Amino acid sequence: MAVTKAVIPVAGLGTRFLPATKAIPKELLPVVDKPAIQYVVEEAVRSGLDDILFITGRGKSAIEDHFDRNLELEDRLTGDEKKKDLLDRVRASDRLAAVHSVRQGEALGLGHAVLCAERHVGAEPFAVLLGDDLIDERDVLLTRMVEVQQRLGGCVVALLEVPHEQIGLYGCAAVSPTDAGDVVRITGLVEKPPPEEAPSNLAIIGRYVLAPEIFGVLRRTPPGRGGEIQLTDAIEALTGLDSDGGPVHGVVFRGRRYDTGDKADYLKAVVQLSCDRGDLGPEFRAWLRDFVATQLDGDTPSDPIRP
Ligand code: UTP
Repeated sequence: MAVTKAVIPVAGLGTRFLPATKAIPKELLPVVDKPAIQYVVEEAVRSGLDDILFITGRGKSAIEDHFDRNLELEDRLTGDEKKKDLLDRVRASDRLAAVHSVRQGEALGLGHAVLCAERHVGAEPFAVLLGDDLIDERDVLLTRMVEVQQRLGGCVVALLEVPHEQIGLYGCAAVSPTDAGDVVRITGLVEKPPPEEAPSNLAIIGRYVLAPEIFGVLRRTPPGRGGEIQLTDAIEALTGLDSDGGPVHGVVFRGRRYDTGDKADYLKAVVQLSCDRGDLGPEFRAWLRDFVATQLDGDTPSDPIRP
């Protein structure tokens, strides 16, 4: 069965980015001049998924507004030849896809957020994209995952090799190889293991293509790490040999990925994408070259700014 629906959970509280995210959803923080979430929706659409379901929560309605029309703004920009390009860019986000939303009510964990999509998704395989995980558009991931799911069935998760000491920050996969170089069979998953107990250095990142059987498992999944219903725990249950959800595979991603919910990674995304932009790149690169040469001669500034 074809994959046409993308579920994007955005109901988390974004505590790592406080106080910026006190009143603004972290998914709307700009990466250059587009909110982070727009890159994620564009990626889904590029992979052929144009039915988008946001799992939202209190204080997140501005995300839906961003993907809706703003007639007042359009009126202001219409008719001015100089603003035509701007008008096109404003309209780009509401023309992208059919956007739907459901509310999670209480942030009980990523697994619980995905369970909220059950009625909309029905009995089809579907993709889950985390709203604060940004994959560079020049590096293909989700399209490949959909391809693998269509060929092998079951569930497919995205994996990234991380330094051993960082594996405890992620869900971690125990794997065995397959014939395809970038695809592994997943034999077990563990959420945020201490590095000495981690079965590999392969971390789960925020892209999944899931079989609908995941919903039944999520309904039975008790709260796990951090008292939250973990998506990793439910996928782990599907790796069992007697599971009716088909096999679980991983696509090992070797491209550029930014966790825009993390401050340092967010800054890296802004710098990298600004350098690579045709319009801003030349000026920004020249400034950055000068900045690195003149300002970054020590490990820490002599007069650091307080957070
Ligand atoms: P995170 O734990 O990274 O997001 O959840 P968070 O809670 O928003 O951020 P921090 O860690 O406090 O800074 C991963 C994804 O799952 C969503 C989040 O919105 C994020 O996209 N999520 C998490 C939900 O939609 N509902 C939840 O109950 C938990």
